[in-house]
Amino acid sequence: MAEAFYITTPIYYVNASPHLGHAYTTIIADVACRFHRMRQEREDTFFLTGTDEHGDKIIRAAEDENLSPKAYVDKISNLFRELWPELNIDYNYFVRTTDPAHIAVVEQVLQNIYDAGDIYFSEYEGLYCFGCERFYMERELVDGKCPDHETEPEKIKESNYFFRMNKYQDWLTEHIHSHPDFIRPECYKKEVLAFLREPLEDLCISRPKTRLQWGITLPFDQDYVTYVWFDALLNYVSALGYPDGDLFKKFWPHAQHIVAKDILKPHGIYWPIMLRAAGIPIYQHLNVHGYWNADQSKMSKSIGNVIEPLQLKNIYGLDAFRFFLLRDMVFGLDSNFSEESLVQRINSDLANDLGNLFSRVLAMVHKYFKGIVPEADPGVEEELRFGLKSDALKAVGEFEASMEVFAFHKAVAAVWEFISQMNKYIDVTAPWVLAKKKSSRKELEVVIYNLLEGLRIISGLIYPIMPETASDMQKHLGMDPEAQFYSLDMLKVWKKTEPGRTLPKSTTLFPRIDMKKVGTRDPSASSDEKAADRKKKAVPIKPEIDFEAFTQIDLRVGTVVHAEAIPQAKKLMKLEVDMGEKRTIVAGIAQSYTPEDMKGKQVIVVANLKPVKLMGVLSSGMLVAAVESSGCTVATLDKSVEPGTPLS
Ligand code: ME8
Repeated sequence: MAEAFYITTPIYYVNASPHLGHAYTTIIADVACRFHRMRQEREDTFFLTGTDEHGDKIIRAAEDENLSPKAYVDKISNLFRELWPELNIDYNYFVRTTDPAHIAVVEQVLQNIYDAGDIYFSEYEGLYCFGCERFYMERELVDGKCPDHETEPEKIKESNYFFRMNKYQDWLTEHIHSHPDFIRPECYKKEVLAFLREPLEDLCISRPKTRLQWGITLPFDQDYVTYVWFDALLNYVSALGYPDGDLFKKFWPHAQHIVAKDILKPHGIYWPIMLRAAGIPIYQHLNVHGYWNADQSKMSKSIGNVIEPLQLKNIYGLDAFRFFLLRDMVFGLDSNFSEESLVQRINSDLANDLGNLFSRVLAMVHKYFKGIVPEADPGVEEELRFGLKSDALKAVGEFEASMEVFAFHKAVAAVWEFISQMNKYIDVTAPWVLAKKKSSRKELEVVIYNLLEGLRIISGLIYPIMPETASDMQKHLGMDPEAQFYSLDMLKVWKKTEPGRTLPKSTTLFPRIDMKKVGTRDPSASSDEKAADRKKKAVPIKPEIDFEAFTQIDLRVGTVVHAEAIPQAKKLMKLEVDMGEKRTIVAGIAQSYTPEDMKGKQVIVVANLKPVKLMGVLSSGMLVAAVESSGCTVATLDKSVEPGTPLS
């Protein structure tokens, strides 16, 4: 039995809404946690995320929105909390630095370190970046500016409390040398060791209340608040009920953090030293990733190049989005986001490699065995395996080893290598040739059985990354979702597929995306740009109507059951829509959607519009859609409802 697993994300500042960068960190924490849940009981894993809610930045952002700091932090914290389930992020606890339990832990740790003599009072003058909430040394600046925010820091002079970091410098250097994978990947360990070659300055941990109220009052001086790192970093232990909580005792010895390189120094230097000074054991690993850039600059609200995760999820589907993030970023290095590479990945890795394999195999089960999983004769099976079993076991082994060390791109590569071996297995065994001869029936049974067995293993391996697709695959493979198929141990044994089950008809796991549609919606445009764009093209609001007039419009939910192009009509598509009763509707959406895109979609229909004939087809109703110069987007609901349900 593997030991307990505790994973954390940074707690995000609530000065801006979540973007793709935050989503990436939180998704990889979810993937790592789901992977560990495949090896141990759910109760033995703990996944923490949350929000960082004190500090100058928050006060400024709250003022900008005319809200009290508390109302403001509640609002933005909720945006994060509500986003994570949308991205299928299954965390255990959401910590907030304004939680009373967190505040009590910060006060206690501060008092302990103060009593031990590692916090002292002194005057300081320095260059302060409000964006980073820290002082900079001249040599750390680039052209006199903060390297992250590209703004000039302000000179600030004040009396403050300082934490004696210098005292622990040699200990930390030694700890990093004696624990070679304490900070990974290697390049970040080297960066921290390079910092440690220079004398460490003591850390300023307070602000006078005359300048700032929105923080935690120092237990030993009521005129000061602490915030920044002494507050934020302690979330990782306060959330577990430090010092006496059962969760703390169980999970803290296994703590692993994930951060991006922007906060390497606080996590790689301040945090271990704080833990040491407070007499708390040091965390196990710091896992550091690079930046998602857009147009070669770090994605951030201040630069205005943020990409909204929900927009991508809505356009391309959640699992495809999660897959892309893991596949396209080499953990530790930067990656430039582009919608084109997202679409290429979906079309090649998901629709072609995995999707085709899956539908080909299921189609053969239906064609040759009436949808029933065949039995594999053991003797013939061994003969016809052609290394598929050892390829599968190799993939599972490489996947496990890579996931263990957060090398997600390698874990994905191992699974896709096996998918390609499965595709080759079909080519080599040519089941369509075996199917032609009665005497090859046993061989055909074995080949199809082995392919189903390979798909079972693939469905388990993709589970942490694409949980919905894994479950969809397993349903179609006739597996019982209760039967522990997500356990890694079950993926290490060959021949677990049960013969005799009848499989449902195949499904398209990932529809291909038309490259031409890329860029019709621009997810990289910042919200402000989009708002300005909308304003430019604003259509005037129509004259007022009373409520009675509005109720005359009968809006209904309909499910598209069939869609087809209308020859000679480039813009029109003929839809058959189930609205309790079936209707034919002709919609002007053919330049933005393919019939394949529309099948299964729930749409909103103006149900009592007088029928009209369009290109010879009688259209009974109209779809509601947003129409822009670049194309149209049909209105859908965010949950599926009964066809025919009225909208009010
Ligand atoms: O630093 N690419 O909060 P924060 C990749 N409150 N990851 C990115 C990213 C990008 N372009 N932008 C943000 C703070 N992130 C502190 C943390 S922890 C005790 C306190 C992710 O809202 C990445 O995980 O600025 C990064 O480290 C984090 O968001 C910074 O979040």
